[in-house]
Amino acid sequence: MRGIASTFGIRNRIEKMKTNLIQKYNIAGPRYTSYPTVPYWDNSSFSLQKWKETLQRSIKESNHKDGISLYIHLPFCESMCTFCGCNKRITKRHEVEQPYIKAVLKEWNLYCELFKERPRIKEIHLGGGTPTFFSTANLEFLIKGILRRAIVAEDHEFSFEGHPNNTTKEHLQTLYDLGFRRVSYGIQDYNPVVQKAIHRIQPFENVKKVTEWAREIGYTSVGHDIIFGLPFQTLDHIKTTIEKTKELLPDRLAFYSYAHVPWIKGNGQRGFKKEDLPSAEEKRIQYETGKEMLSSIGYEEIGMDHFALRTDSLYKAMENEELHRNFMGYTTTKTQAMIGLGISSISDSWYGFAQNVKGLEEYYHLINNNIIPVYRGHILNEEDEVIRRHILNLMCHFKTSWKDKELYFNELPDALIRLKEMEADGLITIEDKTISVTAKGHPFVRNICMAFDLRLQKDKPETQLFSMTI
Ligand SMILES: C[S@@+](CC[C@H](N)C(=O)[O-])C[C@H]1O[C@@H](n2cnc3c(N)ncnc32)[C@H](O)[C@@H]1O
Ligand code: SF4
Repeated sequence: MRGIASTFGIRNRIEKMKTNLIQKYNIAGPRYTSYPTVPYWDNSSFSLQKWKETLQRSIKESNHKDGISLYIHLPFCESMCTFCGCNKRITKRHEVEQPYIKAVLKEWNLYCELFKERPRIKEIHLGGGTPTFFSTANLEFLIKGILRRAIVAEDHEFSFEGHPNNTTKEHLQTLYDLGFRRVSYGIQDYNPVVQKAIHRIQPFENVKKVTEWAREIGYTSVGHDIIFGLPFQTLDHIKTTIEKTKELLPDRLAFYSYAHVPWIKGNGQRGFKKEDLPSAEEKRIQYETGKEMLSSIGYEEIGMDHFALRTDSLYKAMENEELHRNFMGYTTTKTQAMIGLGISSISDSWYGFAQNVKGLEEYYHLINNNIIPVYRGHILNEEDEVIRRHILNLMCHFKTSWKDKELYFNELPDALIRLKEMEADGLITIEDKTISVTAKGHPFVRNICMAFDLRLQKDKPETQLFSMTI
C-alpha cells in the first residue's frame, strides 16, 4: 500500500514539474526556419542586386556538389479553413491556374538567366495553399517547364502537399511519373465538432483513400499533419485522432501546436474567441499525451514538431546526423541554395534571404516586367552566419559546440549566462564547449535557440510577433 502511495506521489511530483516548466517556458518565440528570423531581417541593407550576387555565388559553389532546392508556392484553395495561418487565396475559379503557372515559369526563367550553367535540382517541394487545387495537366506543365532548364540530380527528392478532399489518383500518378515520391496530407483532427469549427469537413474515409492510393502507386513516404490546441479540441479528440492515425500509420507525422496569430492578414482566426481555445494547461496535456501515444505506436521524435517511423528517410537522416532545416521545415538533404517561386515564397542563398511579394497583382506586374519579384530580404554578416549554424545544430541535432574556433562569437559568454537557468532546470547540459539538449529539454528547443538569437536579444519585440513555443 505504502509502495503504491509513494509511486503515486513521485508521479504526481513529475507531473507537477512538467506543468511548472511549461508554464515557465511557454512564451512567444520563433520557429527558426531561418536565422535571422523574418521580423529581424535588415531590409535597409538589402537590394535585389545584392540578392542576385549572393545567389550566383552560392550556385557556383554548390551546383556540382549538393545541387539546389526549389520551393513552389501554389496559393489557391477552394474553401477557407479558419485556423489556417498559410498564405492562400480562396477561389473556386480554376481559370486562375494557368496564368499563375505561366508566371511561376517566367520567374524560374528569370533566375536561370542569372546562372552560367544549368542548375542541378536536388529537391522540389510544392506547397500551399493547395497544390492539388491545380489540374494534373497544369501541374505536369509546371514541372516539365521547370525541369526543361535544369539538370535533375540522381538522388532527387520531390514532394508535395495534398488536400485529402481533392487529391485524385491521377494527381498522385502524374506526379509520381514526374519523380515525386513523397506526399503530405493535412489532417488536423478527425472530430466532426472540431472540423466544423475550423471549417474543414474531412471524413476519415477520404484520408484512408488518398493514403492507400499513394502507397499503391509507390510513394515511399506519406505524411500526415495533425494539430493540437485547436478551437473546441479536447484531449479525447486528440486521442481519437491518434488512434485513427494508427490505422493508417503514415511514415511521417507533423504534430503541430496550433499557432494562433490573428494579427496576420487574411486568416480566419479572428473569429475565434479566447474561450473557444483550450487553456495553456489543457494544451500541455494534449501535447504530452499525444507525444506519448505516438511513441507507443512506433514514432520517433525528429527535431521539433515532427515524428517519423524508423523506416522513413527522415528518421535515418536524424540517426546519421544529416538532418537539415529550411523554410520547408526538416529535410533529409542539405542544399546550400533554395529558390522559392510564387507569391510570398522565401529563398535562401546561404549568404542571404529574399521574400517574394505577397499580392497576386503585384507579382504578375513585376514578372511581366522581367523583374525577380522579391520585396524584402537580408544579407547575412559573419556573426549571423555563426549564429545560424548554432541554431541549425540545435534544431536538427539537439546539440551544438564551439570547439571549432570558427563557431565562437564574441557574445557567446552572454548567451551562456542566459542558458544558466535552463541548465539548472535540466533542459540542457553544458560540457566541454558543447551544449546538449536533454530529452526533458526537447519541447523547449525554441527557447534554447532564443538564447543564441542576438538580434532578438538586442531588440526585444514590444508587440507579439511570434506564436507561443508550446
Ligand atoms: C498548406 S497546408 C497543407 C496542404 C493543404 N492545403 C491541406 O490543407 O491539406 C500545410 C499545413 O500547415 C499546418 N497549419 C496551417 N495553419 C496552421 C496553424 N495556424 N497552426 C499550426 N499549423 C498550421 C496544417 O497542419 C496544414 O496541414
Ligand atoms: S489548411 Fe490548406 S486548404 Fe485549408 S486554407 Fe490552409 S492551405 Fe487552404
